[in-house]
Amino acid sequence: MIPYGRQDINEEDISAVVEVLKSDYLTQGPKVPEFERAIASFCHAKYSFATNSATSALHIACLALGVKQGDSVWTSPISFVASSNCALYCGATVDFIDIDINTGNICINALAMKLDQAQSNGSLPKVIICVHLAGQSCDMETIKDLTKKYNIAIIEDASHAIGASYMQKPVGCGQFSDITVFSFHPVKIVTSAEGGMALTNCPKLAKQIRLFRSHGITTDPGEMNQESHGPWYYQQIELGYNYRMTELQAALGLSQLQRLSSFIEQRNTLAKYYDNALKGSSLTPLIPNKTNLSAYHLYIVLLPSIACKQEQKVIHKNIVCELRARSIFAQIHYIPIHLQPYYQNLGFNEGSFPNAENYYSRTLSIPLYPKLSKKEQNYIINTLLDVVEKKGFKPVPTKLGA
Ligand SMILES: Cc1ncc(COP(=O)(O)O)c(C=O)c1O
Repeated sequence: MIPYGRQDINEEDISAVVEVLKSDYLTQGPKVPEFERAIASFCHAKYSFATNSATSALHIACLALGVKQGDSVWTSPISFVASSNCALYCGATVDFIDIDINTGNICINALAMKLDQAQSNGSLPKVIICVHLAGQSCDMETIKDLTKKYNIAIIEDASHAIGASYMQKPVGCGQFSDITVFSFHPVKIVTSAEGGMALTNCPKLAKQIRLFRSHGITTDPGEMNQESHGPWYYQQIELGYNYRMTELQAALGLSQLQRLSSFIEQRNTLAKYYDNALKGSSLTPLIPNKTNLSAYHLYIVLLPSIACKQEQKVIHKNIVCELRARSIFAQIHYIPIHLQPYYQNLGFNEGSFPNAENYYSRTLSIPLYPKLSKKEQNYIINTLLDVVEKKGFKPVPTKLGA
């Protein structure tokens, strides 16, 4: 089976982890701060905090921004559930902004309309979490312009987008947001097995993120309400969590980071090959913004839209199943969050975000990872076109050699 994504581990990665295993520190040693400094420097951000997942980074990002009961947080319905669960963890309510079906990212017009409405009925959000789907940045400058008069904080869920750039600057630089979050899950661009990172340029947010990551505990005498009892002393000044990354994870992440640029290059080359091969077919890849660099965490194509919704769902399912039967593990990113039973129980209904639902009935992620061979890629393209053609859609005129 050809997976839709997979990690790329080399001998240096293995040695880096083994070296830590032989060292004095498995956790809370020098590798985590080294990893943090390396990412901050790569992204041109002032502060960065490694966590045990992007989910926990998103949670403490919300906490640091003061998200609490009575607040509302908006995000994209086309994301992994972690993008919205983080707000629920804080006791806030969640709402969604429908997507632009061409990019899969939040739709700027839908956001503008929703903000206008929310202003008139007093339901503006405290935070908007922008998800850079598949590695392509949202239009952050416009989002910042639309939200700044309302003083809404912005988190970039850049779980898919380390190594991407927006307006010639690395995603994570924080020019248009308060906090950016990366994921280092194995299918992502670089991995630390499990892991995440929260980046910010704001010293106040940095202080809060650091506290929430580790039990709300400080060893800084300047943050304590009484004189230190001695060199062992710490104080708990917030209700935090153990969301720390281990030294093993940081060593793997650091080693992987050496190859970030080449991973991005390889992913872009593979994506371009798919783009060319699928040109003129009935499949529509998500449209990249030519002036920005996508990290291409995923390669997503949309099936043609057909009038009958039920038929669309059946065709979509059959295509995914047939691809899997033919050893291509096509995946769906994502089931709209508002259609999950947990969210339906919170009051969301089918029909609330029509673009997201239309997208869901047509989307396919086909394999994309640095080690994908030309032979495998040709097999994927030919099989995909064959399967799609059988459903009565238009194939490309010539097929590729294996
Ligand atoms: C957009 C998005 N946000 C958040 C997460 C959560 O990442 P992690 O698995 O590192 O907690 C994921 C993971 O797939 C994701 O795709």
